[in-house]
Amino acid sequence: LNQWGASLRGRFDHVLVLGIGGSALGAKALLNALKGPAWNERNAARRDGVPTLTVLENVDPVTVHDTLERLEPRRTLVNVISKSGGTAETLAQYLIVRRWLEDAVGDAAREHLVITTDPEKGALRAIARADEITAFDVPPGVGGRYSVLTAVGLVPATLLDMDVVQLLAGAEAAVKAAEAPDFSANAAARYAAWQWQAQASRAANVHVVMPYSDRLKEFAEWYRQLWAESLGKKLDRAGREAHRGPTPVGAVGATDQHSQVQLFIEGPFDKTITFIRVLDTVNLQPIPSRASLGPELAYLPGKTLGALLDAELHATREALRSQGRMSMTLEIDTIDAHHLGELMMFFQIATGYAGVWYDVDPFDQPGVELGKILTFKAMGREGY
Ligand code: PA5
Repeated sequence: LNQWGASLRGRFDHVLVLGIGGSALGAKALLNALKGPAWNERNAARRDGVPTLTVLENVDPVTVHDTLERLEPRRTLVNVISKSGGTAETLAQYLIVRRWLEDAVGDAAREHLVITTDPEKGALRAIARADEITAFDVPPGVGGRYSVLTAVGLVPATLLDMDVVQLLAGAEAAVKAAEAPDFSANAAARYAAWQWQAQASRAANVHVVMPYSDRLKEFAEWYRQLWAESLGKKLDRAGREAHRGPTPVGAVGATDQHSQVQLFIEGPFDKTITFIRVLDTVNLQPIPSRASLGPELAYLPGKTLGALLDAELHATREALRSQGRMSMTLEIDTIDAHHLGELMMFFQIATGYAGVWYDVDPFDQPGVELGKILTFKAMGREGY
């Protein structure tokens, strides 16, 4: 991947990912965390020539139109991602975007495409073969929502010059930690057990993940899909009808203190809150003083915005505790490729463990597949 990425450096200003669900959320989380929420607003010089990244998930025609109008096709590389290679949303986008590329660059369109899909099966693989388009494999044994650390997430990461080696090294550290046979030393096992226990014995079936960092906002969305699609199941592992699963919620501090937190503190006793605290931002961005400042604002100058954010996390945690609400805090030193890889793998493994506690298969998604089949039927696809 690194060699391939290096061979493309400087050729493209934009990367456009076409994908949905597990084929989109990982790339969005990586972009947000490692490049920052304002990456696409920076000019090329401030991006050091590294491309922007747009992830086109939905088939809302207005979004698709506006995105293609904004991007310059001659300077855009399109990464079409679909494990099955046949998801209606992604393939419809592909047909539109392929035409958009061909209108601009003709036969050279294939040089503006890279496909990530099953190594053998599916329509996308057939297209890659027929049109000799560069293609990367999604390992057949890895489901979409667990695929961020495969080519699904790593191809966009490479194109955006992220440190793929460190992402994987961080993931490996999480795997090692999760192999600890001692429960008290195994954070992923404890996370899963406590979330399940909170639901089983305290009816806390809503699991909130609330990072105090804008850079982890998309990470919370990624977690939401992972937890929901893995644990929300009709059948238990013995095949009996059980209808299990917690409802995951994403929130961001301090923003959601002025939105959802009222519900968390005073609403039904049905939630756990997992805070994510990032330690290295606590001393950033000093708040300046002003001569005319009245006594009611005198507490702000001399502090930092990072300290204010951190104080808000502590205050929310204390408010929850005082009202008998359950929370836990994950602390990470910094948001870099290593820590993000570790955090993502931590949650993926915790989801696997939670599947054991909930007694469901966390690796299938029959509800999603049913929706796909009914969409094919509604659109008149042959054989459905
Ligand atoms: O996690 C999953 O399995 C799903 O969310 C899929 O990622 C999503 O449905 C897209 O599927 P595909 O990658 O086959 O296009």
